Amino acid sequence: MTEKMASLGNLVAGVAHEINNPIGAFNSAADTLKRCIERVTQIVVQSETGNEIQENVHYQRAVQLMNNTTDNAVVAGSRVTRIVESLKHFAHLDEADYQQTDLHAALDSVVTLREHDLGERIAVVRPYGDLPLVICYAAELNQVFMNLFSNAVDSIEREGEITIRTERDGEEVIVSVTDTGEGIPPENLDRIFDPGFTTRGVGVGLGLSTVYRIVQKHGGQIDVKSRVNEGSTFTIQIPIVAQGADE
Ligand SMILES: Nc1ncnc2c1ncn2[C@@H]1O[C@H](COP(=O)(O)OP(=O)(O)O)[C@@H](O)[C@H]1O
Ligand SMILES: [Mg+2]
Repeated sequence: MTEKMASLGNLVAGVAHEINNPIGAFNSAADTLKRCIERVTQIVVQSETGNEIQENVHYQRAVQLMNNTTDNAVVAGSRVTRIVESLKHFAHLDEADYQQTDLHAALDSVVTLREHDLGERIAVVRPYGDLPLVICYAAELNQVFMNLFSNAVDSIEREGEITIRTERDGEEVIVSVTDTGEGIPPENLDRIFDPGFTTRGVGVGLGLSTVYRIVQKHGGQIDVKSRVNEGSTFTIQIPIVAQGADE
């Protein structure tokens, strides 16, 4: 439960932050537009002819500003839409649902909901392969991707890159998350999946034990390769028709 609460808390804090930015942009756009409208109204009232209005540089500037500001508002609006879509992707999934799942949509949602941590600092590349829909506990695999991606983000102190690669291999799918972060010392490699193992000040050390449990439950496998100061790759392999609860 703690683990779930911690990740939910993280998610909510992240989303709040993530939505705040475009909302701020939106509010400031509304403010600018209001001032432009006042300005234009004033110019119209004070002018004798249409020509006079059109030739007024203040009018021209106001129109230009209104165009740019509207563009900004549209960008901010679609950003919020994207975040809400990603949230829905997480929220509509019932824990118990064993269902056909688009893993790329799940991975994209994870990236969208973590964008506030990435900024200009971390580039994300997604060489996705051709994946079929996978039958799995979708909400749980979302959690797996969120935990692996969050760890990748945490591992990069300054600038770096995260690569999310997917491919089909026969009756299985392979998803790997590679970071150019700090890497894992060999003596820790055996312990990272232990519940409570963490080297992060604020960490609770439950991310990877959760990942491990969920991958096992789906009849899959997880593998990690890491080099200190170079980065890490976590690879999971899941059957396309993942093991269900009663199989
Ligand atoms: N991508 C990664 N790069 C470097 N270290 C990692 C990575 N993923 C996990 N680790 C190590 O494994 C530990 C356990 O990870 P996790 O179970 O997610 O717990 P937490 O993130 O709360 O510390 C981390 O504290 C870190 O030492
Ligand atoms: Mg973690």
